[in-house]
Amino acid sequence: MTDRLSGKRILVTGAAQGIGLAIVEACLREGAAVFCMDRDAALLEKSIEGLGGEGATLVAQAGDITKPDEVGAAIERAGRTIGRPNALINNAGVNVFDEPLSLSDADWDRCFDINLKGAWNCSKAVLPGLLAEGGGTILNIASTHAFTIIPHTFPYPLAKHALLGLTKSLALEYAGRNVRVNALAPGYVQTQKVIDYWNSFPDPEAARQETLRLHPGGRIATPEEIAKAAVFMISDECPFMNATCLTIDGGLSVQQHPA
Ligand SMILES: NC(=O)c1ccc[n+]([C@@H]2O[C@H](COP(=O)([O-])OP(=O)(O)OC[C@H]3O[C@@H](n4cnc5c(N)ncnc54)[C@H](O)[C@@H]3O)[C@@H](O)[C@H]2O)c1
Repeated sequence: MTDRLSGKRILVTGAAQGIGLAIVEACLREGAAVFCMDRDAALLEKSIEGLGGEGATLVAQAGDITKPDEVGAAIERAGRTIGRPNALINNAGVNVFDEPLSLSDADWDRCFDINLKGAWNCSKAVLPGLLAEGGGTILNIASTHAFTIIPHTFPYPLAKHALLGLTKSLALEYAGRNVRVNALAPGYVQTQKVIDYWNSFPDPEAARQETLRLHPGGRIATPEEIAKAAVFMISDECPFMNATCLTIDGGLSVQQHPA
């Protein structure tokens, strides 16, 4: 354990698995107190047990980021347990992949409610505390979909593009008050979400091999590799990093096409 995040009280959304859970573990290792939120109550409980259970530096509460009252309740409980959050990691997100003309209105709403409005709901609830404390950090887990488009994944990339817009907008709005707002853009990461994506193809193993083939290094990221970058971005090691997006995709998105 180190003290790179000592004094940080971090709210992490989508914390029950995947990138969010890896971020929680990394933040705890670096000396932070962490408040975990996820809408999957059973999985959240199991994952927190796996980390040794709740304690002075780890608290969890089931909640849905699309519901402002549940976000408010989580922040209120954070205040009573680990202390009012001075950092927020907007990680919860879902894939909504379709073709533009077959997408239902309900799926459009679900995509933007979770991937964009949810991050805003949490930011809006945490920001007053950051400003009252004289500063803090928000990190939005975006995606390479925030600046590139893969056909047939509509409208997920639109929501991630907008999340990058939210990042820049809030960053400029509050830069003068010592609040930093940044985004992190993973490419493919080995989580259940990507396994589900491969399983949506008739031949999941062929889909997995195709994904690996697209990557210059022949592999995708681990959640832990994304978490290491998240720790750096919310730490005090990069105080002038603001309104930016850090890509971690093994070089995937700068290729014109795979060799
Ligand atoms: N896995 C990847 O390849 C990848 C790549 C780029 C970006 N991302 C982004 O990283 C983030 C995490 O992805 P992951 O792969 O770890 O996903 P995941 O599906 O493994 O975990 C996401 C978690 O978020 C929770 N969640 C979903 N909607 C919620 C809501 N409304 N309220 C509260 N919790 C909610 C889920 O219950 C789940 O536990 C997402 O924003 C995703 O878009 C993932």
